[in-house]
Amino acid sequence: MHSNNQLPKLTPVISDWMPKLMNDKVLLDSLFAAYGSPINIHYLPEFDKNIDTFRKVFTKHGISYQIFYAHKANKSKSIVKCAQENGIGVDTASYRELLQALEAGVKSENLTVTAAIKTEKLLQLAVENNVLVILDNEDECNLLNTIAKKLDKQTPVGFRVSGFNTDMGKLYSRFGFDLDEVSSFITSTCSPQGEHSNLSYTGLHFHLNGYSTEQRGAALSQCIILAEKLKDNGFTTQFIDIGGGFLINYLQFKNEWKAFREELKKAVKGERKEITFNNDGLGYQLIDNKLQGKLATYPFYNEVNGDLFLEKILSFRYKNKASVTELLRDKDIEIRMEPGRSLLNQVGMTLAKVVFRKKDMRGRWLVGLDMNMSQLKSSSTDYLADPLTAFAPAPKHLVEVYFTGAYCLEQDIVLKRKIALPNLPQIGDIIGFVNTAGYMMHFFETQAHLFELSVNLSLEISKEIYDFRDFKNDKRNV
Ligand SMILES: Cc1ncc(COP(=O)(O)O)c(C=O)c1O
Repeated sequence: MHSNNQLPKLTPVISDWMPKLMNDKVLLDSLFAAYGSPINIHYLPEFDKNIDTFRKVFTKHGISYQIFYAHKANKSKSIVKCAQENGIGVDTASYRELLQALEAGVKSENLTVTAAIKTEKLLQLAVENNVLVILDNEDECNLLNTIAKKLDKQTPVGFRVSGFNTDMGKLYSRFGFDLDEVSSFITSTCSPQGEHSNLSYTGLHFHLNGYSTEQRGAALSQCIILAEKLKDNGFTTQFIDIGGGFLINYLQFKNEWKAFREELKKAVKGERKEITFNNDGLGYQLIDNKLQGKLATYPFYNEVNGDLFLEKILSFRYKNKASVTELLRDKDIEIRMEPGRSLLNQVGMTLAKVVFRKKDMRGRWLVGLDMNMSQLKSSSTDYLADPLTAFAPAPKHLVEVYFTGAYCLEQDIVLKRKIALPNLPQIGDIIGFVNTAGYMMHFFETQAHLFELSVNLSLEISKEIYDFRDFKNDKRNV
């Protein structure tokens, strides 16, 4: 066994509002008394800030643009309203997301439907409100055209494109029309004589899996070339939407991120004490005494994130020729983006109350939180950042704990990481998970055991001291 058995830290990037809140235990107690546990808190001034960061990049490059907040990343109405107030658009992925955005007063021209499954009800709502629909396949085109025809309307559409050429060959996606076929499909079916004559072609769209700026740059370049081809055939591309997937940075220190991965590998190889529950490799595995696999979490530490990530896309040179910005010059094409996670960077926290402490049969401290695993769940293997704490005063006595949740599953471990705390939490102490607004708090939440969904509160102002009335209840009915 290795000598260094200290737990690696992953210090989160935090904003002022987070410790300010966590330092006010009296206020937090009043929020828990009113709303139960867990509570999701959204601080909207950070959302405004994130919008401005992206805006500056487009302005600097003289590119006409629009930003669409990808609603799917968070269910709160307050954020949709905030998007509307900022004059940005909303990308919707279901009937209820679209309805919520319409009810928040988002204008039709600032809405888009990119849902993976587009039901008749959703498309009907979109057509009635002149909302742009991004089409994925021929069946969708047929259904949308039928609805538009019935309502005697020309309805705006964009086409999702995939199959872009990259250094690694053609990029696979289950979504979209193939790059090599989409132009002839549009020109033959969306013409006045075509079978989709009630669809008005307005633009192109892609959303790529993963986080490569090169692939996004290459895809955008190929869409610009495609737009030229369509123009030659009389179809004007008003916009190209480059989707979402803009990396954010959750962690303060590169060396901690590196050390964490090293220690995790050592633990899996049995060279040190576990740093995750039951020595979960988070993607690494020991097979025939050899370490295999790779870390299957979100890449929590990123130097190229947010505006820099966008910069990289816009300055990308496809086939080492003109940059995206140069290709766009004099083209009159608006660039749209659909960020979810990156607009929610630093916007949210999930707070939960400590209910019990116990030692398991292996001598590990388990701290039971009044929440469950679905309320802090990533689409990748785990959430990885140290939590903040609001503890009642207690003598310092370093302790290592796992946080466990309310579901009747052995695997309801809220964080797989073992966390070092200055002292054992007391019942009623509060644990605050940082930067959870993008996907972590809502995307996978379930109501097993008939637990209520967590309450969403939003703070709309920046001020020195908060009081109870500053927290607006989102009152969701989902
Ligand atoms: C079509 C589409 N647009 C935008 C997004 C938002 O991506 P992100 O939140 O990573 O920016 C997604 C996410 O899955 C998506 O599928």
